[in-house]
Amino acid sequence: MKLTDEIKKRRTFGIISHPDAGKTTLTEKLLLFGGAIQTAGAVKSNKIKKHATSDFMEIERQRGISVATSVMGFEYRDLNINILDTPGHKDFAEDTYRTLSAVDSVIVVIDVAKGVEPQTEKLVGVARMRQIPMIVFINKLDREGKDPVDLLDEVEEKLGLSVLPLSWPIGMGQRFKGVYNIYKQELILFDPHGQQDEDNILKITNPDLETLEPLVGKFAAEEFLSELEIVTMVYDDFDRDAYQKGDQVPVFFGSAINNFGVKEMLDGFVEFAPSPLARQTEERVVRPEEDDFSGFVFKIHANMDPRHRDRIAFLRIVSGKFERNKFYHHVRKDTKMRFSNPTTFMAARKELVEESFPGDIVGLYDPGNFKIGDALTDGEVLHFKGIPRFSPELFRMVINKDPLRFKQLDKGIRQLMDEGVAQLFTQVMGNQKVIGTVGALQFDVIKYRLEHEYGANCDYHQVNIHKAIWLEILDKEEFRDFEKRKMKDLAYDKDEQLVYLPETAWALQMARDNYPGIKFHETSEF
Ligand code: G4P
Repeated sequence: MKLTDEIKKRRTFGIISHPDAGKTTLTEKLLLFGGAIQTAGAVKSNKIKKHATSDFMEIERQRGISVATSVMGFEYRDLNINILDTPGHKDFAEDTYRTLSAVDSVIVVIDVAKGVEPQTEKLVGVARMRQIPMIVFINKLDREGKDPVDLLDEVEEKLGLSVLPLSWPIGMGQRFKGVYNIYKQELILFDPHGQQDEDNILKITNPDLETLEPLVGKFAAEEFLSELEIVTMVYDDFDRDAYQKGDQVPVFFGSAINNFGVKEMLDGFVEFAPSPLARQTEERVVRPEEDDFSGFVFKIHANMDPRHRDRIAFLRIVSGKFERNKFYHHVRKDTKMRFSNPTTFMAARKELVEESFPGDIVGLYDPGNFKIGDALTDGEVLHFKGIPRFSPELFRMVINKDPLRFKQLDKGIRQLMDEGVAQLFTQVMGNQKVIGTVGALQFDVIKYRLEHEYGANCDYHQVNIHKAIWLEILDKEEFRDFEKRKMKDLAYDKDEQLVYLPETAWALQMARDNYPGIKFHETSEF
């Protein structure tokens, strides 16, 4: 098959939501459609259990599961579809941001009763910034929830998205009768005890009271018809271009647990969602159909077995063809490398791959050669953009408790940071190591893993740091003054970029006011 045909066949996306909205359930139904799994309950939830947020062993449990759920591939209507896992828990937000660099579109799941929740807001914000096309699935229509018109207003307002309902619910909760697929002009009736099957789908081009009343009852029919009238009046028509730019967001309603409305959404997804897209590098735009191979690492997963410290690096293929045992150029290390055991992830089952194409995710066994963001190419020097680091929320200084094992500690910390568990800042004055994380749990995980995987012993000291701020120096003179005064608050990140670690929000504001010749960024990419 030609490269362009392979590209056309692929869809790589992520599902984002606040925990509990139904991401795991929806993923499972999608895999069932694709025949990738046979039974419900096969996809384990990798979320942190509700009651266990203070228990870091829960994270270790989660880590074990997430190897299997990091990438889930399935086939549907002749397409190879990859779902990339995006943890909803806020402590793993970094991981999700990075994963969003490897998808071409996303599905946003919203709980009809809870509406737009904080984590949805954050993640959609990142997706919007990157202009990733989005589809919204409003879930749990079998329960009472918010009025659909109000809910869509909330989505527009809080998420800043321009929505377009392509299906519309008829009642909800106890009175839930089904959804009308506006796009395909079909009515799907809900049977609370049954499976969604084709028999319950009726072609109704112009729904009116006469056709609907016998099917759903007078009250539901009237309510639905008046809502549909509003919907047709208020919202624009579907505009594929606007969707692909992330400007217009199709919305579907359903109930994941009942496998209801899911197929309609999947069919919509298959029709609209983009095939693998070009990626921006510092050097140029790389198009998938280019003959030369390129790809980047967006996630690194350590082996769960502490005796084998090897890891899996997840490579998103951007252009050309990836082949087993062929030599590729590791751009950061400026060396040649080949891979004899690359794996794909078809539905939690790992398989050796001979060749892979743009949009595919390949797992590479890695004894420690990769960092997040690394590029592999046929030889060209490329630095992929869109894998920024964001300022952590919490900071602690690392204290070595066992001076004889300094080397182990150093290596352990470096490798854990390459995995993206947390961020390391090395102070310019005194070389002290400061670790920054999004959630407090990561500190326990790091300590535990340093001890069990690297035989190193560490403690933490509290430090007063408000944020990590990446510096862009416009005026060298001004910077020399800033450097002199703020030396004790300066550090290098893992890529030797200079970072300012102000003690308070006030100090940061003062610095911004006093040094217009320096730009202060809360992300490493500007
Ligand atoms: P998440 O991955 O987004 O965190 O959510 P998950 O799929 O685990 O779903 C969260 C809870 O919502 C689960 O219940 C799940 O069964 C339920 N759920 C998902 N879809 C629907 C739906 O369409 N209708 C209703 N009524 N519930 C739905 P749980 O009790 O927390 O977990 P479990 O014991 O059922 O696994």
